[in-house]
This record gives sequence, structure tokens and C-alpha cells, in this order.
Amino acid sequence: MGTIPTQTIEQVAAANDIVEVIGSYFPLKRAGATWKALCPFHQEKSPSFTVNPQRQIFKCFGCGEGGGVFKFVSLYEHINFPEAVKKLAARAGIPVIEERGSNVQDDRQHEARQMLLKLHAETAEWFQENLLKREFAAPAREYLKTRGITPAVAKSWQLGFAPESWDACLKWALDRGYTRRTLLQSGLVKLRDEERTDGEVYDRFRGRLMFPICNDLGEVLAFSGRILQSEKEGAKYLNSPETPLFRKGRILYGLHKTKRGLIEAGSAIVCEGQLDLITLFEAGLTNVVAPQGTAFTEDQARVLKRYVNEVVLCFDADAAGEKAAERSLEPLLQHDLIVRVAEMPPGEDPDSLVRKDGAETFAQRIAGARDFFDFWIERATATSDLANLGTKMQVARQLAETVLRVHDPLMRNEVISKVSARLGVAPADFANLVPKTSRARLPNEPQRPARTVAPAPRHEIALLCLLALRDSAARDFLLEQEWPEVIEETPGTEMLGRILAADLRPDDPASLNLFLSTLASEEESLVSGWLLQKMPPKAETVAREWWQGLRLPALRRRLKAAESRMKLPQISPGEIVTLQKQVVDLRGQLDEFSRLSPNR
Ligand code: CTP
Ligand code: MN
Repeated sequence: MGTIPTQTIEQVAAANDIVEVIGSYFPLKRAGATWKALCPFHQEKSPSFTVNPQRQIFKCFGCGEGGGVFKFVSLYEHINFPEAVKKLAARAGIPVIEERGSNVQDDRQHEARQMLLKLHAETAEWFQENLLKREFAAPAREYLKTRGITPAVAKSWQLGFAPESWDACLKWALDRGYTRRTLLQSGLVKLRDEERTDGEVYDRFRGRLMFPICNDLGEVLAFSGRILQSEKEGAKYLNSPETPLFRKGRILYGLHKTKRGLIEAGSAIVCEGQLDLITLFEAGLTNVVAPQGTAFTEDQARVLKRYVNEVVLCFDADAAGEKAAERSLEPLLQHDLIVRVAEMPPGEDPDSLVRKDGAETFAQRIAGARDFFDFWIERATATSDLANLGTKMQVARQLAETVLRVHDPLMRNEVISKVSARLGVAPADFANLVPKTSRARLPNEPQRPARTVAPAPRHEIALLCLLALRDSAARDFLLEQEWPEVIEETPGTEMLGRILAADLRPDDPASLNLFLSTLASEEESLVSGWLLQKMPPKAETVAREWWQGLRLPALRRRLKAAESRMKLPQISPGEIVTLQKQVVDLRGQLDEFSRLSPNR
């Protein structure tokens, strides 16, 4: 991947109002000149998360997190800086033309990815055209009708049809100029003989109703194809293999369309398959996601946590569904998601239920979904006798294991009190079963980065930083001084140096955002705190005064050094003259100081 030109970054910052961007994730409340919300980065009961439209930054006075629009998006979406820039560029319709990096390998990977994305987008269109227009897709259209999917819905979800043929897709794609290599990489075609990589290839998807699988931006990354008749041999659903674009465990089907609904509801209905999801969505229950027939993965749970605090599992009432629910629990709890379970009647799934009872009844079922722990205790009670102390303790121990997975201490305590009440044991006794030590990390769990705090510089340096960032006159004054020398000689002034060295315009929030984006995360938090501080009146005068204060020790140090050097025996007469001049000059400067500020 290349690098994004700084001009583009600044342009993207200018085109994305931070209040609008953050407001598209969760509601913000106006509080005078700023906006407030509960902080999404730590647990809190009253809002200390602030968004400042003038400065175009956010800052949480609870946890200290803060920064510009890029930092917010990358923190909230768990994406890196270039991804955040691209996302916001797309939002504003700004093309991002990356400068070629020095890394040829990365460039090639990037190009291959772009090619695969284009192939998937075009193939989805081709499948869709087949479905809607071709004679041979009549049975597929008929099938959709039986499933209650109108052509408009099919269009909106980009459903398509893969012809019953060994090479229709292959031929079409080769005709369009895609290489055999790209097609193999995409998984749209397969090798007849896995051993012979140069051998014959054929279409993976044949005679199937095609569901494009998109990422949260709506880019097609893969396909899932359903056979039309359930009695036919072969798997009911066939998916793209894992490719450079697609990792099944990372994608939540439908997210690009349901994001908004998720954010608004703060809660996600989790169903198993794509047809469940489409039916719910079209029935007006738009806060849905589908992990596509598998249990939740750690990655999916993390993605989901960006949008909601709670999930309601609507897995099938069969053994497979129950197993998926159980296996989903751990990753969901790890990400502090509240988990509830809506049981489906035997033989039904969300799709069939909504079609049978209507959306209203289904919504009631969701509203009445029980907490996972209640659900579990009930199941345990149904199969074992909790009147028996030994059995009860065994169930309690099992539950304690699970409670251990709840990562957030507040939430864990809540769960402990609930579970102990349901079991009829004293909370303290139950809590004793939950090991106190911080939970051991699970095998695949990434380590949470510790929130480090950048050491704040001394007050006067911080004030100069603030002035250099925010006031043009003060900044210009400082830039005229011999600041590189002073900064080099004064410990704790690195940030001030970076602020002065940066090509930034104090009155332009986009330019400040560009500067923020060059900082490490904890530095960005620190600096955004300064940006929100009250400015002293007469900024330039204040800058002048504090700058002299910073220079004074540096001048004294220099004077001392020159004086002691002059006393060295091996010093040449020429150098003595230079040093003498220096000493006179430095003394003069120091005298001027005491005249300007006699109390120093
Ligand atoms: N699935 C899969 N591969 C299979 C079977 C299922 O990937 N061989 C995934 C699909 O995403 C499917 C989901 O698991 O939607 C749930 O499977 P299932 O309950 O069997 O199907 P339904 O969603 O009920 O599908 P349909 O209503 O089309 O029968
Ligand atoms: Mn179904």
C-alpha cells in the first residue's frame, strides 16, 4: 500500500465535520457550544465525552481519550489510520490516490486486492442480471417467489443467479479480461485437480441463488450460493473459500445495511442465515446481523461491539442452534456485550416466524428474550435437581466459569448478583467461586493495549504548546525565536518542538487534525486536551513572557558553560576571545531579562 498524500488527509479532515461523523455512530446532545455523550471508550454513568465543533476534536474528561476525527474513527471502528482516512474520504466523495510506497510487495498486494474487489463487484452484477433477466433463471425467480422475496428486495440485496453450467462464469470473466489466476484466487472457479495448478478449472457456483457477502462498506468480498431444491444432493449453501478478501469469521452478513439500525437500537438481533436476516430487515426489524451459520467469533464480537451493547441470539431451536449459542457466549462476553436469548419454537427460524406471525409478534419475542444466564440456569434446572446441594454447587461452578469471561468488572458484579439470586446462594459464596485474580487471557485473545498516558510537560511548556497551536500571533512570535536551540537544550519540550516544526495553521481545524494525525495515540489525547483549554487573553504577550521563562535557564546554562570553558588551561587565545564575546552577549541578554521581569 502506498502513502496517502498529506494534502488529501487535510482535505478529508476539512470535508468531515466531526460532530456529524460521531453523530452518525451514536446520538450527541448539545451542551452550549459543544456536544456531549456517554463515552464509548470507557464505562460511565454521566457524559464526560465532549465533541468540539470549533476545534473539530473530541475529548473524554473521564478516561482522557481524545483527538481528531481520524483517531475517533480508527478507535471506534478498530481500524488503522489509512483505513480511517479512506473511510472518511469515501464518505465525503474524495478520491484517495495513494503515492506509490517504496514497498513493491505491498503495492502488489494492494493491486491484487483492488482487482479482486472489482471482480467481485462485477460478478455480483452479472449474477443479478442473470437472475432478473435471463430465461434460464426462471426457476430461481419462481423459488424466490415461494420464499416471499419480491424482485425489489432481491435487487436491494443484490441477489443473483449462477447458471447451471461448468464454465459460464469462467467464460464471462475471461471475456472481461480477468486472468485465470485472479479467478482462482477469488474462488469463483476451482481446479479440477488440486494437484495440477495449471490444469483445467470450472465454476464453483452452478445453478445456485447467489447472495453477495459484503463488508461494512458494502464492498462485495465473497458469495454464498443456495440450491433451489432442498432435496437435491450437495450442501444447501455453498460459500466462497477463504481468499485474500474474505475471512468468514470476520464478516457479519448484512452489516453494511443494518449498521444504522444497530446503532439506533443499541441492540442486535443475531440470526443464523442470510434469508433470516433479509426477512427481518424487510419486515422493519433492521437491527440484525448474521454470522452465517456459525458461532460468533472473537472478531465478529469486536465488530459488533462498535455498534451495540447487547445482542439477542435467535438461533434455531435444534441442537446445532443451541451449540452455536453456547459457543457464541464467550467471545460476546469478552467484549462486554450483554447476551440475551430468544428461543425459537421447534422447527422455526426467524424467517419462518416473521412470515407466520408478523413482525410485531416477533419484536415482542425479542423484547421478552431472557438474559443468557437465566436461560442457562433454567436449562440446568430442567435437567438437574438444584434442591440437591451437590448438584447445585456443580451448576454454580460451571456458571462461575462463564462469569469469569465477563470482562468488565461492573458488569461482572451485576451478573454475579443475578446468578447467585437465581441459584439461591449468597452472592459472596458465589463470588468466591469466581477467581479474583484478573482473568487469564484466552488463547486467541489479543492483548488489550494498556491505555498509556503521555507525560504532560511542565505547566509553562504546556501553555506554550497551547499558544503555538491555537494563536497565530503567538505562534509567529515563537517561530521568530531561536526555538530549535532552546528546545534542544530544554528537557520536556519535544512536543513544543513538534508543534512549532509542523506546518499548521492555528485557525484551521483541518490543519490541526492533520497535525494530530501525526501523533501517537496518547500524545493525541494530551494535545486535544490543550486544544479545549481556555485561551489566556493577550496570547502573544503571554507567549513572550513564558518563552523568556523557558529561555532563561537555557541562557544561564550557556553562560555557565562558557565561563567554565574559559578557565580551562589548554584553551587557545582565539577561542578565549570568542568565549568572552559570548559571555558578554549572554550577560546582556540576562540583564535585559531582569529589567523586563524584575521578580525573576
Ligand atoms: N450455512 C452454510 N452452509 C451450509 C448450511 C448453512 O453456510 N451448508 C449457513 C447459511 O448462512 C445459512 C445458515 O447457515 O443461512 C443457517 O443454515 P440453515 O438453518 O440450515 O438454513 P436457513 O438459514 O434456514 O436457510 P433456508 O431458510 O434458506 O433454508
Ligand atoms: Mn430458514
